[in-house]
Amino acid sequence: MAPVTVSTTGAIAVSLSMAVISYFLCNYGSKLSWRSWLKQLSSKKLRNGLIDAIGNTPLIRINSLSEATGCEILAKAELLNPGGSVKDRVAVKIIQEALDSGELTHGGVVTEGSAGSTAISLATVAPSYGCKCHVVIPDDVALEKSQKLEALGATVERVRPVSITHRDHYVNVARRRALEANELASKHIKDDRKDAKDPGLINSHTSEGGDISVFSSNCKGGFFADQFENLANFRAHYEGTGPEIWEQTDGSLHAFVAAAGTGGTLAGISRFLQEKNPTIKCFLIDPPGSGLFNKVTRGVMYTKEEAEGRRLKNPFDTITEGIGINRLTNNFLMAELDGAFRGTDMEAVEMSRFLLKNDGLFVGSSSAMNCVGAVRVAQSIGPGHTIVTILCDSGMRHLSKFYDAQYLSQHGLTPSATGLEFLGLG
Ligand SMILES: Cc1ncc(COP(=O)(O)O)c(C=O)c1O
Repeated sequence: MAPVTVSTTGAIAVSLSMAVISYFLCNYGSKLSWRSWLKQLSSKKLRNGLIDAIGNTPLIRINSLSEATGCEILAKAELLNPGGSVKDRVAVKIIQEALDSGELTHGGVVTEGSAGSTAISLATVAPSYGCKCHVVIPDDVALEKSQKLEALGATVERVRPVSITHRDHYVNVARRRALEANELASKHIKDDRKDAKDPGLINSHTSEGGDISVFSSNCKGGFFADQFENLANFRAHYEGTGPEIWEQTDGSLHAFVAAAGTGGTLAGISRFLQEKNPTIKCFLIDPPGSGLFNKVTRGVMYTKEEAEGRRLKNPFDTITEGIGINRLTNNFLMAELDGAFRGTDMEAVEMSRFLLKNDGLFVGSSSAMNCVGAVRVAQSIGPGHTIVTILCDSGMRHLSKFYDAQYLSQHGLTPSATGLEFLGLG
């Protein structure tokens, strides 16, 4: 055997070192970057996809209102969620809970009867779960709303507007569509439709609300989101928004106020905060035509408008959207409230312009009403307190009514205030 020379030993040493370095680069090195990536994720420098980007919204001090009232008025900027509203969290929670319980499967269809923010949020998040979204709305709703939902990939079914007690009310149709999808999935009915571009769901169409199946035979079942009664809505705020507000204020807040539609936001946050500290006061701000103010303050649902039989076409006689209701939902029943205030449409319109001019905040009608509520609470409990409310969505969603000068003028709602005089502040 030939003797091993110095140069051969050197070559072997170099080769060994190269092998060791490349082993570490390939294995340990990649693990290092994986670990540091995870670390970044956990420190929230990175959000892991769309769903992880929902929530943890900023809490913004509204400087103008804070200075005018002598209170710290803080607003949870839910309008900064990826889908543009407070309903993103709700959509995520509804879908996650349904998947966990097995009521919904990946590839299934989430149905909802709504033309509002919840439908937009469901349509936004459903693809992240490999699910579809089917929305049923009355056919007198602006075409723009269904176009928006379709652009997000949802299918939209426009039905004849009828009373909620009618089986073909759009909410009842949405519930029925989920059942139909489940029946189809469980029976494995073969569908021979030729247009198989999207095999799970057939394109949107108008129905008369009858039993026309909108799902093809190979759909993976359905789940009715049911935002008014499904307590996943409440839990989204009880487990998410409430704890975030608590952390962002270091637990030092005195009051919370918000309007209610389904009641999920008000219920989830009020219950969480009062469990943390029972001295935190929680209030409802209620728009015209809603029965909740009377329910909270007098224990009965009653509105003057209804008693006099002069209900307007607008469901709750208000320009504000998504808030006000004349029945008690499962979600609202979870609220822990200390009182309620009434807000007017004029106050909401004036508040929106005041916030835009003084703070650069371009907010929707319910957010403006919430800020009216924050000032009412400040006036009621006095200066030196910290009051939290919600900015639900942006003014961009409200261009055709709330921010339309002609529409406002037709309804006697043209804003004219120079400051906060509409709320009795100098
Ligand atoms: C824009 C907007 N703001 C506020 C609300 C009220 O929130 P909640 O349903 O949690 O009471 C809704 C409800 O749909 C909404 O769409």
